[in-house]
Amino acid sequence: MSNISIDFLGFSLKNPLMLTEGPLSGSLELIEKASKFEIGMIFTKGIRPEPIKSPVPYIRKYERSLINADWSDIGFKEWIRTINSLQVDTPVVTSIAKNYVNPDTAVEMAVELVKAGSKIVSFVDYDPTQLVETVKKARPLIKVPIMVKLPPLLLNLEEVLKNLVSAGVDAIAAMDSMGPVLSIDIKTGEPVMGSRDGSAYLSGKCILPVTLKYIYEISRFVDIPVVGVGGVTDYKSAIQMIMAGATGVGMVTAPILKGFGIFNKVASGIKEYLEEKGLEKVEELRGLTHQKVRERSTSTNLKAEINQAKCTSCGLCEKICYSKAVIMEDEKYRIIKEKCMGCGLCASVCSSNSITFNGRVR
Ligand SMILES: Cc1cc2nc3c(=O)[nH]c(=O)nc-3n(C[C@H](O)[C@H](O)[C@H](O)COP(=O)(O)O)c2cc1C
Repeated sequence: MSNISIDFLGFSLKNPLMLTEGPLSGSLELIEKASKFEIGMIFTKGIRPEPIKSPVPYIRKYERSLINADWSDIGFKEWIRTINSLQVDTPVVTSIAKNYVNPDTAVEMAVELVKAGSKIVSFVDYDPTQLVETVKKARPLIKVPIMVKLPPLLLNLEEVLKNLVSAGVDAIAAMDSMGPVLSIDIKTGEPVMGSRDGSAYLSGKCILPVTLKYIYEISRFVDIPVVGVGGVTDYKSAIQMIMAGATGVGMVTAPILKGFGIFNKVASGIKEYLEEKGLEKVEELRGLTHQKVRERSTSTNLKAEINQAKCTSCGLCEKICYSKAVIMEDEKYRIIKEKCMGCGLCASVCSSNSITFNGRVR
């Protein structure tokens, strides 16, 4: 029997899935509701010193993703009451929206939250030097685990990680939504989002490849647990995140769009995948991609081949091939080897998985 529970910072979580910061964990009622689903850990919405309402609209669907400019929060005093009265089995991380306060205030907030019963605190800031500074100040005062959530695409990633680890951080989540981004209403020319200049942040399916690469790089440099957040929408993307090196897998856009039930679906998808592969524990998948990268060789001169027994003649390969290497002959699609550039695009659209490159499926 496969087991998807994990150990994370001294907690035994029923699975690696985590509800990360966002509107679905913005109040006591919502956290209590979330705790009834297959969620290993819950991060509160970003906690600020004062209650605030974001200008409307602040969340909009964008393709299969979201853009948001959601700074809304119930305020610190309400959070202290909330943490005080929380009675859920799922561990809850109190997440401090560090970018709105200086490091000293962020640490004071964290100390108060721990006094109120918080078992893990996290700091979130787009400025990594502020995160390092905050963890340094928090470490001697806070006995519970300290996490940070990184902004996307840090150029000096290795240095930031080294500084965070020597400051005493216990785990790293990555990443926050990507941005700022802008969406424009062509009827008026106005920004779509309600924030003054329309600035917003992108999350959900379309950011998955960015996050995967980020998690892969972060887990090359640190030994502490990493939580992969950004673009996970199903069990396949959750497994990719674990293979890239994540211990925990966060989601918020997917449950906003599909409901909390998505966690149950993803959890059973991971379990079935492990069972199919004959694996006992989810840890056996962690970092697999690092090993594969070390072992693999690359090739620049492979040519496409169509498995005629599998091909359904849907014609997608012919339509997409920019070097006109796919032709129809005797009612079958065929590759002209001399024209094939070996780019792999045809295999990625093939509806029957019948295109390989020297036997290797792309
Ligand atoms: C509507 C919305 C509100 C969010 N609010 C917060 C927040 O208060 N604090 C925070 O650190 N991240 C916040 N995030 C970012 C998410 O926690 C997460 O890092 C990001 O959305 C990527 O994950 P996803 O693709 O699963 O949504 C928010 C995201 C969304 C979509």
